[in-house]
Amino acid sequence: MSDLSFLFNPKQVAVIGASASPQKIGYAIVSNLIKSGYQGKICPINPKEKEILGLPCYPSIGKVEGQVDLAVISVPARLCLQVARECGEAGVKGAIVITAGFKEVGGEGLKLERELQAIGKKYNIRLVGPNCVGLMDTHTPLNASFATGFPEKGNISFISQSGAMVIAILDWSFQAGLGFSRFISLGNKSDLSEIDFIESCTADPNTKVILVYAEDVTDGEKFVQVCTEASKVKPIVILKSGTSTAGAQAASSHTGALAGSNRAYDTAFRQSGVLRADNMSDLFYLGRAFSTQPLPEGDRVAIITNSGGPAIIATDTIEKTGLKMARFSKATIDQMRENLPAESNIYNPIDVLGDARVDRFRFALQMAYEDENVDSVMVILSPTAVAEPEKTAQAILEYKDKYPHKPIFAVYMGGKTLVKGKEMLVKAGVPTFTFPESAVTALEGMVRYAEFRRANDAAPVLPPPNVDSNTVKATFYDVLKDKRVSLLAHESSKVLDAYGIPVNRTYLATSVEEACQISQKIGYPVVLKVSSPRIAHKTDVGGVEIGLHNRREVEKAYNRIMERVRRYLPDAPIYGIEVSKVVDDGVEVIIGMSRDIQFGPMIAFGLGGIYVNLLKDVSFRLASALNNRQAIEEMITETKAYTLLKGYRGQKPADIDALIDAIYRTARLVQDFEEITEMDINPLRVHTRGATGLDVKITINQM
Ligand code: COA
Repeated sequence: MSDLSFLFNPKQVAVIGASASPQKIGYAIVSNLIKSGYQGKICPINPKEKEILGLPCYPSIGKVEGQVDLAVISVPARLCLQVARECGEAGVKGAIVITAGFKEVGGEGLKLERELQAIGKKYNIRLVGPNCVGLMDTHTPLNASFATGFPEKGNISFISQSGAMVIAILDWSFQAGLGFSRFISLGNKSDLSEIDFIESCTADPNTKVILVYAEDVTDGEKFVQVCTEASKVKPIVILKSGTSTAGAQAASSHTGALAGSNRAYDTAFRQSGVLRADNMSDLFYLGRAFSTQPLPEGDRVAIITNSGGPAIIATDTIEKTGLKMARFSKATIDQMRENLPAESNIYNPIDVLGDARVDRFRFALQMAYEDENVDSVMVILSPTAVAEPEKTAQAILEYKDKYPHKPIFAVYMGGKTLVKGKEMLVKAGVPTFTFPESAVTALEGMVRYAEFRRANDAAPVLPPPNVDSNTVKATFYDVLKDKRVSLLAHESSKVLDAYGIPVNRTYLATSVEEACQISQKIGYPVVLKVSSPRIAHKTDVGGVEIGLHNRREVEKAYNRIMERVRRYLPDAPIYGIEVSKVVDDGVEVIIGMSRDIQFGPMIAFGLGGIYVNLLKDVSFRLASALNNRQAIEEMITETKAYTLLKGYRGQKPADIDALIDAIYRTARLVQDFEEITEMDINPLRVHTRGATGLDVKITINQM
């Protein structure tokens, strides 16, 4: 991990392009550094000035004495390369390049950015930007940006690919009462990316939660690696914009069509413990929840309310998310029956009724906090004429302090009359919402993250499987030599067999006699299919004969297929006839793979057969994660196919061990051979003992 302390806690900062004109960005940066209370030395650089904002000005970075850790560059793009070189000669460790006009404008800008990168590499200067707002650390304190204002000190780090988002969120944070440890604007990510900053914020003791706004991820595999480790330490919540399905539309396999890049992001985030926010408000609600609350020990929620409707909405949302409404102990229920009005609902949600004053809320809080079947508490208050929002806020705060291990969420449903109560809650660190759905979303994020942390004991990695990679290599070589990218059935089956993935071996016969010999060897009944790279839909041209029980039937079928195909498609090259055994028992599942441009091979598993795309009963994992039994089992149990595999309606259970092994080996195969772009084993029939892959589609590309 690279130590980026020279960016967040520099001893000396130079501002290149510092200006004495208040309307210029170079002025704002110097002014922000001063106003933030930065304790190190600030060195404005401007060849025309002697002094800027009361600070002595230098004509160039080379004239500054001592080590400059950080340079903030704010000169026009055409001057940036020279300035960067001067920084390099002066031994600057990190540079924030505010300037726009690089990669984002294309053409010359792209060229300029490449040159800037090369200078950074040559002189070992770590670059932030270009085309960024800068960065801030409230604990140093340091404001090396041209944003307006400096956030309240807090424990949230916000990393953003959009500069506008940094500025807007900062402005909003003042009224929202949100405190930050760091603000980082990534800009064009010419060098340092979200990955470096996630690592750095994970190591930052002042950061409790990391929020990220990302449009893309720089290096998918490294991102997963870094986030998997970082999530074990603190939560990462990402709002990823751009949920295009363009990739999915272009795919030719079932798996490819179901996958798409958005799915890859989902899978990668989930796998690495990253929470994905659906929108800006969820991002910050989650940030606030993690920033102020302890992690819940479980998923059981108690709701306390003075109004039925909102509580029903909250209950519905809780159930939809898979969280649980807590079931109170008998002792709790007895006490509530005794102490609350007869009309109250004493089961969860606890409805203390519309005429409730603070005393009923206080009593219900006591009940919910003390019951050990409750993992978190949500108070929903509507501003009835007798409600006491501020006193109730005070009660919530008292219980929060008394029971610091249980998270509390407040939903103050209303506006004007609740402002003061809300303010009290927010100030004291209670996540406070206007509507229950957002509160449940934030709570759900916390529960899921807590689950990730608990389940985090590394499962033992499976031993490497015995494989014959030479056969796979040779097969791919032959296919490419034949100027094809799609494997024929006998080739795919050879590849699977070489990796020990159970497959119905298909053999190519080039004569009637050979077809008969193969049939004899593999055992009747058999299926014959024409083999030609030009015939995708074999049945349509009469190229398939099934259920052949003896030599005579095979001979006749062979000749019939040849005759029909030659008649329909006289010009199609016929490689021969593929012979395979009839296999018709077992549960039909699919194992597939599509390769994501960012995250690499992604494995799909689910209900197989011709309705895969319709039923969409599929779970996804990055192949790299399928190296242990637990991960593969989890992937299987997520699908409805699992219900069938366990033995549905009196059926015997299928051989799940064989399926686990097949998934494990498929994940291995696609990691070992990067030339496989897409793959479907559909169906794979899972028998009571063993499994058999029937239709196998493999597409490769030239490496
Ligand atoms: N070393 C130090 N200072 C230099 C210099 C050098 N080699 N060459 C020029 N300067 C000075 C200039 O004289 C000027 O100072 P002055 O006000 O005293 O004349 C100062 O640096 C700035 O240069 P100027 O030409 O006035 O540029 P500018 O301030 O109008 O614009 C940028 C510079 C970087 C702000 C502009 O090019 C830009 O990129 N703007 C967009 C920024 C942006 O949106 N970023 C992304 C946010 S998401």
